[in-house]
Formats: sequence, structure tokens, C-alpha cells
Amino acid sequence: MIEIVQLKKVIIQADTEIPLFDNMNFAFQRHTSYAIVGPSGVGKTMLLSLIAGLEKPSSGQILFDKKSIDSVSDITEFRRQHIGIVFQNSNLCEEFTALENVMLPCLLNGLNLELARQESEQALEVCRIANKKNSFPDQLSGGEKQRVALARAIVKKPKILLLDEPTGSLDPKTGIQIADLILQLSKNSEYFILVTHNIELARRFDYIYELKPGGNLEKLD
Ligand SMILES: Nc1ncnc2c1ncn2[C@@H]1O[C@H](COP(=O)(O)OP(=O)(O)OP(=O)(O)O)[C@@H](O)[C@H]1O
Ligand SMILES: [Mg+2]
Repeated sequence: MIEIVQLKKVIIQADTEIPLFDNMNFAFQRHTSYAIVGPSGVGKTMLLSLIAGLEKPSSGQILFDKKSIDSVSDITEFRRQHIGIVFQNSNLCEEFTALENVMLPCLLNGLNLELARQESEQALEVCRIANKKNSFPDQLSGGEKQRVALARAIVKKPKILLLDEPTGSLDPKTGIQIADLILQLSKNSEYFILVTHNIELARRFDYIYELKPGGNLEKLD
């Protein structure tokens, strides 16, 4: 389980402290895919950032299988080993090719160059973008970049896969192709959480929750 326990997150806007999440409690179950919807600014990206350890709670905890991960070095290590994340904008390094972008997390994880290359080529294959492995991000379309970003997120076979609006800027047809791919990927990770404004996409996963102001997650049917 990924448990969110009495979580508070205060943000500072124009010198004022605003409680974004106030006493948030939730449990994400293993081998269950979650889609999270909710209005812009309600904190969906913040929630994923907190789970990924990119943001720290103001108070409260996030527990992974009952364990809390508190020290900064532990968080970095935990993220490298166990978390794959696709950001709202695909966030590829412009100066690296598609293949090199995917190899990066492998190298950070201590794989040697040859193994990193093999695993990255495999991940690009799974995401059906291996033909563009030597292209730089600015030579790729939006959908192609999303495929590379997905390959980068899954290359370490992470336990936890977090996707933030992965079909955001795509035309409907490409969006459906990426959604099909994401659905496959969702079955390979232990924990799967996707944030989207696209309710059609959200319906393809086990549960849809709406994030409400203050940090309540309310189940939608
Ligand atoms: N690092 C930060 N410091 C201060 N405020 C932040 C920070 N990150 C996000 N916020 C604020 O927190 C609120 C929630 O932002 P978040 O990006 O989580 O929204 P969201 O639900 O993902 O919206 P969208 O659907 O537009 O992506 C916003 O008001 C935003 O301005
Ligand atoms: Mg967001």
C-alpha cells in the first residue's frame, strides 16, 4: 500500500500561506490502477510530486508498504530504484537523443553503458518508438516525445508508475494510441497512478477519484 497519512501541504503564494492539502488521508492499493481527475490548480501535480518525494509534506507522512522514507538521501535512492514518473510536459533533456534520455536513469542506477543501452532499446521498443532512438527531442512530435518519456519512466521496471497528464497535448488519435500503451504499462507496475483531465482515458483504469480542494479524494462511479 501507498498510504497518505494526515498529510498537510502548505504553499506560499504572494507571501501568504495557503493550505493546499489539509489532513489528507488515503491508501493506494497494490495492483490497482488509479486515475485522478480534478480542476486545474487543485493539487494533482503536487500530489504526485509528494508521492515521488520531489516535494516534502508540511506535516504528515507518506508510507510505502508501512515504511516511511524520510531522509533526503533515502528519498533520492528510493525514487531512482522504484519510481517511474512522466511529467506534465514530457521534460526530456534537449541535448540528448531519445536513446540517451532513456539511458540516463539506468546509468544513474549504476548500470554499465552496454546494459543501459540494451534495456533502453527494449523500453523504446515496448513504447514503439525505437525507430526514432537517435533523434533529438526537437526532432520529435508531441506524441513521439510522450513515448520516449514513457520509455524513460518504465526502463527501470519501477514498482511505482506516476503519470501526469501523459496524453495532454496530443491529437485524439495519437492520444488513443498512447492510452493503449499506458494501459499495457499499468499492468506491469505494482502501483499505478495517472492524473488526467481526460475522463475517457480515466475510465479505462480500475478506479477514478476526483481530487477536491483541501485534498479529499472522492471516488467517482
Ligand atoms: N512549488 C510550488 N510552490 C508554491 N506553490 C505551488 C508549487 N507548486 C504548485 N503550486 C501551487 O499549488 C497549486 C496546485 O498546483 P498543481 O500544479 O498541483 O495543480 P494541478 O491540479 O496539477 O493543476 P493542472 O490541472 O493545471 O495541472 C497551484 O495553486 C499552484 O500554483
Ligand atoms: Mg498539474
